[in-house]
Amino acid sequence: MKKEFDVIVFGATGFTGRLVAEYLNAKYGTAGTVTWAMAGRSAAKLAEVRDLIGAPASLPFITVDANDAAALAVLVARTKVVITTVGPYQLYGEHLVRACAAAGTDYVDLCGEPGWMAHMIPQLEATAKNSGARIVFSCGFDSIPFDLGVVFLQEQAQKQFGQPLNCVHGRVKVMKGKMSGGTLASALATIERLGREPQLAKTMADPFALTPGFKGPQQPDGESASYDEWAQSWTGPFVMATINTKNIHRSNALLGHPWGKDFVYDEKMLSGDGDRGMARAKKLARSTRIQNALLVFAPTRALLRRFALPKPGEGPDRAAREAGRYEIVFIGETANGQRLRATVKGDRDPGYGSTCKMIAESTLCLVQDVDRNSTGGGVWTPGSAMGAVLIRRLEADAGLQFAIEP
Ligand SMILES: NC(=O)c1ccc[n+]([C@@H]2O[C@H](COP(=O)([O-])OP(=O)(O)OC[C@H]3O[C@@H](n4cnc5c(N)ncnc54)[C@H](OP(=O)(O)O)[C@@H]3O)[C@@H](O)[C@H]2O)c1
Repeated sequence: MKKEFDVIVFGATGFTGRLVAEYLNAKYGTAGTVTWAMAGRSAAKLAEVRDLIGAPASLPFITVDANDAAALAVLVARTKVVITTVGPYQLYGEHLVRACAAAGTDYVDLCGEPGWMAHMIPQLEATAKNSGARIVFSCGFDSIPFDLGVVFLQEQAQKQFGQPLNCVHGRVKVMKGKMSGGTLASALATIERLGREPQLAKTMADPFALTPGFKGPQQPDGESASYDEWAQSWTGPFVMATINTKNIHRSNALLGHPWGKDFVYDEKMLSGDGDRGMARAKKLARSTRIQNALLVFAPTRALLRRFALPKPGEGPDRAAREAGRYEIVFIGETANGQRLRATVKGDRDPGYGSTCKMIAESTLCLVQDVDRNSTGGGVWTPGSAMGAVLIRRLEADAGLQFAIEP
């Protein structure tokens, strides 16, 4: 069916949504091959964003509230795909993703909230398969560079060794960037829900929480400081490992387990070698433990909301976004001990400068590059829905580099 728009950006008045709209406007304009519109709950704010990003008055916008299921059903019928940056998703995401699944409209988001995803996946899967909607969660820094980093390394391993790597270590070498208010709000929403629903802790701790009906082997502990012989470096916990590991196991499952049902993956921060590396890794593990313990208490969260920056709608300024970058190393081993190493690098700060490009290009990859008939509807990961096609697009258009290291 002919749709009015290729893309609608829902949440364009928020910090990240505005960056996505700004990127689409700068790169694709409003009268070119990509037809798009902005959406949000305030017409006045949307008009302000349109001026701020330098878009012409002809750029359409749609006023809709995330709680208005009927209005969202009308919105999703007008577009091929919806990008949503209206988060926390566990508070505001459900009506929209259900509307997309029902209508056969593709959906991409920046969700890094595994509890909500684990809850939604079984409810959306059959509807999306029937309608043809491709629902793709986690199209930002969590989890694109990690999910696609593993897809890339595994494809190279198949080419070089004729077999998959049954164990991969994801190691964050550089991550220069800050957090937005919306990201902080999403993290706090998860912690609050943990207080109300203690069983959610099991989901958060389960690397296979997003592969209903499948459990793989025990996975390594990512919480403590440890020395990684493969990377020749000390390592400490990495904050996004909780969501990334789950998405990576889901990619393996959705692709039919090409990396084996015994696939093992873990993700940590590199802290260097020697005594200083060890000290840094221990400090990271200790501060992560303390932070997690403190955030359990409501008064700590209230203080953080009241006094800490940033607030919802705020985030790193342009200079900080442009000065940011990241580099992730992936090292894997086959069952008979052959090793392969790759790096994924990104320009701009990971959470916003790079994320706005990644989500926009993922969306266009679905619209322009990946035939709906080849994927079919369902709840996908970026790696399983778009894989190598998205890698090529991100390298060409979004400042990412994927390379095998000697
Ligand atoms: N995975 C990643 O790498 C990554 C990176 C960046 C962000 N994120 C996630 O993206 C989300 C957004 O972050 P952010 O910093 O951009 O947040 P933000 O600045 O607070 O923006 C939130 C947006 O949601 C809108 N909104 C809130 N309630 C709504 C409602 N009832 N109806 C319609 N719109 C509503 C806000 O509209 P108003 O302007 O009208 O308030 C605003 O546009 C968060 O969940 C964050 O965790 C993830």
